[in-house]
Amino acid sequence: MTAQSDIVAVRTVAVLGTGTMGGPIARNLLRAGYQVRVWNRTPAKAEGLTGDGALLAPSPAAAVAGVDVVITMLADGAAVREVMAGAGGALAALGPDAVWIQMSTVGVEWSDHLVDLAAGRGVTFVDAPVSGSSQPAEDGQLLILASGADHERPRLDPLFDVLGRQTLWLPRVGDGSRLKLALNNWLAVLVEGMAETLTLSSALGLDPHLFVETMAGLPLASVYATNKGNAMLETDFAPGFPLRHAAKDAALAADAAYNHGLELPLTAALLGRWQQAIALGHGEDDVASAITASAVTASATTSGQ
Ligand SMILES: NC(=O)c1ccc[n+]([C@@H]2O[C@H](COP(=O)([O-])OP(=O)(O)OC[C@H]3O[C@@H](n4cnc5c(N)ncnc54)[C@H](OP(=O)(O)O)[C@@H]3O)[C@@H](O)[C@H]2O)c1
Repeated sequence: MTAQSDIVAVRTVAVLGTGTMGGPIARNLLRAGYQVRVWNRTPAKAEGLTGDGALLAPSPAAAVAGVDVVITMLADGAAVREVMAGAGGALAALGPDAVWIQMSTVGVEWSDHLVDLAAGRGVTFVDAPVSGSSQPAEDGQLLILASGADHERPRLDPLFDVLGRQTLWLPRVGDGSRLKLALNNWLAVLVEGMAETLTLSSALGLDPHLFVETMAGLPLASVYATNKGNAMLETDFAPGFPLRHAAKDAALAADAAYNHGLELPLTAALLGRWQQAIALGHGEDDVASAITASAVTASATTSGQ
């Protein structure tokens, strides 16, 4: 067992990707007293963090030189590989004792690929996607699904405690990405179920508020589904969790299932509809905007009668 006095505390952290999630993560680390360097593909989006004390680096490699920990919080697996292993990438500049915490949602195949990429360069890797959207990120209330590098846990737990309300350490590296995929597949099915049920309620001549209010008092309710139902009723599509990310995650779940010889008929069906909503311009809107596909399909069917 590692004695508390043997643990070398993490002091310097590079955050690569300062979007909706990475920005608040960097800010919370700064508030907690860490020295933070940030890099973002579009530098203007990271400049605000310099006012909080972050150093804005000109490249991923410059951001990570000499740091204890690098966090990647980027759109998808391809972006993570590009930033870590592309030209000017971070991996080549990481010190021998540095830890790479990969927090983006990248799915199973990409997670496995990134594990191999880190191992090939001798870099300690922790797979640590998060559950919780922009508000929990700002409030330091994420659920962190961590796996890998068991020996680094005592050193990383204080950092995770700044970002989340709980860290779930899972047994095999990559289990965090697997659990995250399962959670977001469930999220997708809940959201689409709510969207279709509200559309059905309206078509039946019911006030759809009645459905949400009635459901909310039953064991059928989930807080998330109820909140999304209310957002759909109010046409409040402020993210939240953008529909394009939710669709990406549903596609990752469908791919992972396929690679295990499974089908996910619900997920496959909702993906087609969510692509319609994205084509209508809702990609940056909250996942609640998935209801626009239900409404479009319903009105198209009605007008075709
Ligand atoms: N938003 C949520 O509620 C939420 C919740 C849990 C997990 N997640 C996951 O967390 C990750 C980040 O989400 P987010 O909401 O922070 O996304 P976001 O606001 O869209 O930010 C995406 C980040 O990735 C960068 N990026 C995209 N493509 C890139 C590329 N090819 N090369 C370099 N950088 C690239 C963007 O840079 P630019 O600024 O230059 O575009 C930006 O820094 C995603 O995997 C998402 O699924 C999100």
